[in-house]
Amino acid sequence: TGILGLLIFTVLVWFLRRPKKLPPGPWSWPLLGALPQLAMIEGPAYKTLTKMGQRFGPVFSFNIFNQLVVVLQDYDVIKTALDQNALSGRPSFEISQLTMPGKGVLSASGEPWLELRKFSSTVLRKLGMGKSTFEQQIATEATYLLEEVRKQGDESFDPRNVIENAVANVICYLVFGNRFEYTDERFRRLIDAINKSLENGGVAGVVEFLPIISKLTFLPVVKRHIDNNLAFQRMMGDLLRDHEEGYQRGISRDFTDAFRNAMAEKEHTGEQTYLTPNNLFYSVSELFGAGMETTTSTLRWALLYMIAYPETQTRVQQEMDRVVGRNRLPRYTDRPSLPYTQAVLCEVQRELIVPYALPHKCTEDTTLSGYHIPEGAIILINLWHILHDADEWEDPMQFRPERFLDSEGRLLRREKFIPFGLGRRVCLGKHLAKMELFIVFTSLLHQFTFKPPEGVVASLDANDGGITHAPVAYTLIAAPRD
Ligand code: HEM
Repeated sequence: TGILGLLIFTVLVWFLRRPKKLPPGPWSWPLLGALPQLAMIEGPAYKTLTKMGQRFGPVFSFNIFNQLVVVLQDYDVIKTALDQNALSGRPSFEISQLTMPGKGVLSASGEPWLELRKFSSTVLRKLGMGKSTFEQQIATEATYLLEEVRKQGDESFDPRNVIENAVANVICYLVFGNRFEYTDERFRRLIDAINKSLENGGVAGVVEFLPIISKLTFLPVVKRHIDNNLAFQRMMGDLLRDHEEGYQRGISRDFTDAFRNAMAEKEHTGEQTYLTPNNLFYSVSELFGAGMETTTSTLRWALLYMIAYPETQTRVQQEMDRVVGRNRLPRYTDRPSLPYTQAVLCEVQRELIVPYALPHKCTEDTTLSGYHIPEGAIILINLWHILHDADEWEDPMQFRPERFLDSEGRLLRREKFIPFGLGRRVCLGKHLAKMELFIVFTSLLHQFTFKPPEGVVASLDANDGGITHAPVAYTLIAAPRD
C-alpha cells in the first residue's frame, strides 16, 4: 500500500503541476516560435490567421519569438472576451515612448485607460459627436470637398488627397475647434506627419515581439521611426501651443480645451490623475491616427466599388433623387428613408479597414473557452474572418449590398457586422465615423457620377502592406450630375 500511495501521490502532483491548458496552435521552434510556419503561408496576415483558425479552432495560439499570441475568430468567443477587463489591455507600444513618455485613450491600459476612455467618450458626446452640431460641421466640410472634386473637371484624379483633407479637417474641428484651408502649411505638415507615422507603424509591432530592437537606435528603420516621432511631436506641439492662445479657463470649445480644463480641475483638487500634458499630446495624436486613415480608406473603397459596380451607383443615386430630390444635399436624418444607400455603405465596410482590430494585451491571468490565457499574451481579434465567414455571409467575397436588406427592402441589423469592434474597447469614434461616411458618400454621389478613366477596368486590389487594408491607388473621373 505504501508504494501504491506513493504512486497515487506522484500522479496527483503531476496533474496539479501540469501546465495550464493554452489554446492549441502550431508547433513552436526554439527561439523563433511559429514564425517559420506563419511565413510559409501565402497571402496577407488576416488570411493566414483565418487558415490557421480553420485548422486549430476559433481560439488558437502561437509564439513569435518569446511572445505568446492568442487569436480569436469566433463571434461568440470575441463577444465574451471583449467584455473582460483582463483582455482589454494594449501592448506597451514601447518604441513610441522613446521620444516622449505618455499614453492616449488608444494606447493606454489599466487605470490610465479607464480614466482616459471615460473622459474622452464624455467629451465627444458633449461636443455633439453623432448629433446635429457635428453633422453641420461635417456637412460644411463636405461642401469644401465637393468644390475640390469639381475643380478636377473632366481629368482623372486619385481621390485620396481630397478625401483625406476633408477627413482630417473633421478631426481638427473636434480637437482644435476649427478647420484649416487645405493649402495651409501647418495642415499639410500635419497630414504628412500622420501618414509618415502610420507608414512606419510596422516597427512598433515588431518591437512587441523583439523588444531589444527599440534599443538598437542605430538601425535605419528604428532611427526613421524616432525621427518621424520627433517631427510629429514638434508639429503637434506647435498646433497645441497656437491653440492655447485662445484658451479661456472653464470654456470648452473642443476636445483640447476640455482636456486642459479637466487637468486644471484635478490640479485644483489635488486628485491623482492621468490627464497630464503628455497624455493630452498622445490623446489628440491618437484621435488623428485612429480616425484619419480608417475613414479615408473606407471612403476610397466606397468610390472604388461605385466605379466597379456602376449599376449600384445608379441605384443609390435614384434612391437619393427620390427621397432627397435635387434641390438640397442629403442629411443624416434622411438615413431611415435611404435603406439601399445604407446597405451599400455596410457592404463597403465589410471590406474591413482594420482586419484584426487593434491588438489587445492580457493584463492578468484569465480563462477563455476553457483555455488558460496568461498575463502578457497579445490578443488578436480576427474581425476579417467574422465579416467573411461563409456560414454567416453567403458568397462572402461577392459585393452584394442586398444582404443587408430584408425582402421588403428594409435595412437589416446584422449582429455579426462589427467593423468597429465590440465591447469595452469598441471604436471611440464609431458614431462620428458613421455620420461622416454617410454624409460624405451621399454628398459625393448626389453631385457626381464616378467613372473609371477611359479604357480602364476598376481593380479591387488591396494594399495590405500597412496597418490597414486599403485599396491600391486608383484614379477616377467625377462627372457632374447637373
Ligand atoms: C478603436 C475601427 C474611425 C477613434 C477602433 C478599433 C476599431 C476601429 C476596429 C479597435 C477596437 C479594439 O481595439 O477592439 C474604426 C473604423 C473607422 C474608425 C472602421 C472608420 C471607418 C474612427 C474615428 C475616430 C476613431 C473617426 C475618432 C476620431 C478610435 C479610438 C480607438 C478606436 C480612439 C481606441 C479606443 C480604445 O482603445 O479604447 N476603431 N474606427 N475611430 N477608434 Fe476607430
